[in-house]
Amino acid sequence: MTEQLLRVMNFCVSRDGIACGPGEDQSLEEPFGLPRPERLFSWAGATASWPNRTDPGGSRGLDDYFTRDFPRNIGAEIMGRNKFGPQRGPWQDHDWQGWWGDEPPFRTPVFVMTHHSRPSFTLSDTTFHFVEGDPKTVLEQAKEAAQGQDVRLGGGVTTVRQFLDADLVDTLHVAVAPVELGSGLRLWDSPDELEDRFNHEAVPSASGVVHHLYWRR
Ligand SMILES: NC(=O)c1ccc[n+]([C@@H]2O[C@H](COP(=O)([O-])OP(=O)(O)OC[C@H]3O[C@@H](n4cnc5c(N)ncnc54)[C@H](OP(=O)(O)O)[C@@H]3O)[C@@H](O)[C@H]2O)c1
Repeated sequence: MTEQLLRVMNFCVSRDGIACGPGEDQSLEEPFGLPRPERLFSWAGATASWPNRTDPGGSRGLDDYFTRDFPRNIGAEIMGRNKFGPQRGPWQDHDWQGWWGDEPPFRTPVFVMTHHSRPSFTLSDTTFHFVEGDPKTVLEQAKEAAQGQDVRLGGGVTTVRQFLDADLVDTLHVAVAPVELGSGLRLWDSPDELEDRFNHEAVPSASGVVHHLYWRR
């Protein structure tokens, strides 16, 4: 059996390393806590394979490759509670079932890390489980659920940093958009800072985004 990887995929940051607004700025209207998050993500939305595309067309170059690759060989996702939604503390509103509507794009088990318990639920072919534990234990759970496929580490920043600190991440793809945001939650100070542990290739795309690819040394 091939090795199961933990993969960060299509994680979007600005040139100054910002992935989203500070946590207190997140709201139902602004999932990313930023007034104009589309500047980080527009490269993916412009591709032919963008799942929410309503009109024909779209680019079929490098950006499209990463958009298409998102579900490939992924059997489970791990995400932090703030990626799942804007509630903080004990769950007050169980009607809130994530940002993604009745058909979440994951189509796998999703492990939402939180210190506050909540029953699992299923929407279409995605089941959300709410788990507390150290990253290694949560990864073991997710790998078992993934049944031999890889596990995607979906973010946000706190969660990705936590798994990086525990040295559990096998590959990362970070898309750096040609914008400066100045403040917010920062993934890194520089794309070079992971090079002690990871091989690193930076591949510029015609859209102006630079795709940074990392894999373990
Ligand atoms: N730019 C991108 O590509 C991208 C991708 C994904 C997400 N985002 C954005 O990132 C933001 C969220 O990031 P974030 O850093 O604020 O939060 P996050 O990583 O999504 O979630 C952090 C929360 O997860 C829970 N948690 C983390 N580790 C845990 C553990 N070991 N055990 C139990 N619970 C644990 C804690 O919640 P409790 O203590 O409350 O339980 C913690 O406050 C959102 O705005 C989202 O839209 C951006």
